[in-house]
Amino acid sequence: MLLLGIESSCDETAAAVVEDGRRVLASVIASQVEEHKIYGGVVPEIASRRHSEAIVGVVEQALAESGKSLSQLDGIAVTYAPGLIGALLVGVNFAKGLALSTGLPLIPVHHLRGHIASNYLTHPQLEPPFLCLVVSGGHSHIVEVQDYTSLRVLGKTRDDAAGEAFDKAARAMGIPYPGGVELDRLAEEGDENAYSLPRPRVEGAPLDFSFSGLKTAVINLLHNARQKGQEIKIPDLCASYRKAVVECLIENFSKAVQETGARQLAAAGGVSANRLLRRKLEGLSRETRRELFLPQLSLCGDNAAMIASQGYYEFLAGNTAGMDLNACAQRSIDLG
Ligand code: KG4
Ligand code: ZN
Repeated sequence: MLLLGIESSCDETAAAVVEDGRRVLASVIASQVEEHKIYGGVVPEIASRRHSEAIVGVVEQALAESGKSLSQLDGIAVTYAPGLIGALLVGVNFAKGLALSTGLPLIPVHHLRGHIASNYLTHPQLEPPFLCLVVSGGHSHIVEVQDYTSLRVLGKTRDDAAGEAFDKAARAMGIPYPGGVELDRLAEEGDENAYSLPRPRVEGAPLDFSFSGLKTAVINLLHNARQKGQEIKIPDLCASYRKAVVECLIENFSKAVQETGARQLAAAGGVSANRLLRRKLEGLSRETRRELFLPQLSLCGDNAAMIASQGYYEFLAGNTAGMDLNACAQRSIDLG
């Protein structure tokens, strides 16, 4: 079964052609990141306009690279939630138009379910159930993937997402948006014990996260140092901060592994590219003798191949939509 995937939830316009949810025939991503960099973050209005301009070309390119024509497709999978509403609407409306003109089924896909599916593309042998740490720019979840379309959230962030926490701290350190990637790179050269930072916990909810206090601690540390004229070693601060965020993620995830007795572990989302997080997850996998699945680096960030992959399983479960499909800025992953 051949699906076209379309993704436009944030600042990447993407299209892909995927066979049977597992084999990527083509994956095209048009990133707007350079444009948003000037503003230090994604400007929703600009994102929507750039998606409108890019979407036709990106879909045409994905089809051309796959060597398939529209008539050979079996369905159109599109990210409909969660994300920036104006950005999502571009992909959703384009997919609706294409479904209407071709008569192909329209398959709505939850963006975070898509991130999880990046593991199906990387590891052909992976099948649910597994426990997944979903860490993106907008979300931080511990998810029990019971089946391809049956998921349960065990823990989530009460404030900032892990990616957001990385980006905001990076910005305070003068690293341009999206700072998470560069902060990770600089941290590799720094001393992770140079600065002492808190490990925030949520009282009464051991699987939930809270990152805003950690981010504020870094901002205060920078302000205090500036006022006192003290020099801050940025790679050292990056390393100390990365260690704090990753330890919070790992601590809760390992608690969830104990609680659920999960046999297979996975991670997904932009932050799953983080070098320290990957190393710590590998350590956890060795210690607990659980098998670990990580998405290949090229599939950690937003892409449409993961949407087409999850779309395949949504289609098999009968989850298609009519022409009244709408985009949702917020929607829980367990609702689909
Ligand atoms: O999943 P994603 O591409 O988009 C959303 O769905 O939000 O995640 C983007 C986030 C950004 O916050 C970015 O800074 C972060 O992932 N990110 C990283 C790394 N690579 C991307 N954060 C830490 N370390 C990285 N290597
Ligand atoms: Zn994403």
